[in-house]
Amino acid sequence: MTSAQVIDGVALSKQLRQQTRERVQTLKKQGITPGLAVILVGENQASQVYVRNKIKACEDTGFYSILEQYPATLSEFELLQRVQALNLDASIHGILVQLPLPEHIDAQKVIEAISPAKDVDGFHVASAGALMVGQPGFWPCTPYGCMKMLESIGYTLRGKHAVVIGRSNIVGKPMALMLLQQHATVTICHSATADLGQITRQADVLIAAVGKQNLVTADMVKPGAVVIDVGMNRNAEGKLCGDVDYEGVKQVAGWITPVPGGVGPMTITMLLMNTLEAAEHALPHA
Ligand code: GUN
Repeated sequence: MTSAQVIDGVALSKQLRQQTRERVQTLKKQGITPGLAVILVGENQASQVYVRNKIKACEDTGFYSILEQYPATLSEFELLQRVQALNLDASIHGILVQLPLPEHIDAQKVIEAISPAKDVDGFHVASAGALMVGQPGFWPCTPYGCMKMLESIGYTLRGKHAVVIGRSNIVGKPMALMLLQQHATVTICHSATADLGQITRQADVLIAAVGKQNLVTADMVKPGAVVIDVGMNRNAEGKLCGDVDYEGVKQVAGWITPVPGGVGPMTITMLLMNTLEAAEHALPHA
């Protein structure tokens, strides 16, 4: 029985973070330390872990970072004021408001308040629009990380059929646009898709970004396909797992990303790279 090659997100992240660290050192010599501000509102457990990991990654890579934590009772107006203050703060090049936000806050309104020049999450409509028309702008970190994983195995997307399961603004939709930009034929599947397996079996590249354990099973995968698992779920034993039945699909796929140790670390790595790029843009032009 053959077994898929594993795309190791930890190893690739390590490599990219080392390159980032070196660029940070160069920038520091020019008088700029890249700075990231992370805002967390409320007590969401998963968000607290994600935010802690983002701040730690900043510290490990030589970035300046600040974490602003507010109670769930923070008003939308107060949050918008904080974002505006950070827009004007020259020591901050990237602003990230961790989602989800409490119900009484309009998340899209808060995202639109971030200056597009500091939108390192790539969630602003200006960033989304730039991606759609192929103009420079920040790409959302998770699908950007998936593209880097494909690049790391030297995969050529031109003419291939890429199937994305999930249509979120954070992953599915931007993922499809990035694949399209690389000349793949792209299909987006979602909860209303009829006969999911019939479509996924045609995929040369299959990206699962739904948030449902064991959504993708071996019978749904074309032999030799590249399978990228964006899922972040907890199984019955409380262990982290993706959307893909890893053990089963590994027997069929050509390449596969594990959970944990796949897309997760890449998301944070791309956040660092976006923040570095934002800081590099702040350099005075010669
Ligand atoms: N919540 C889940 N994923 C993300 C992310 O990539 N960025 C932000 N800001 N919030 C999230």
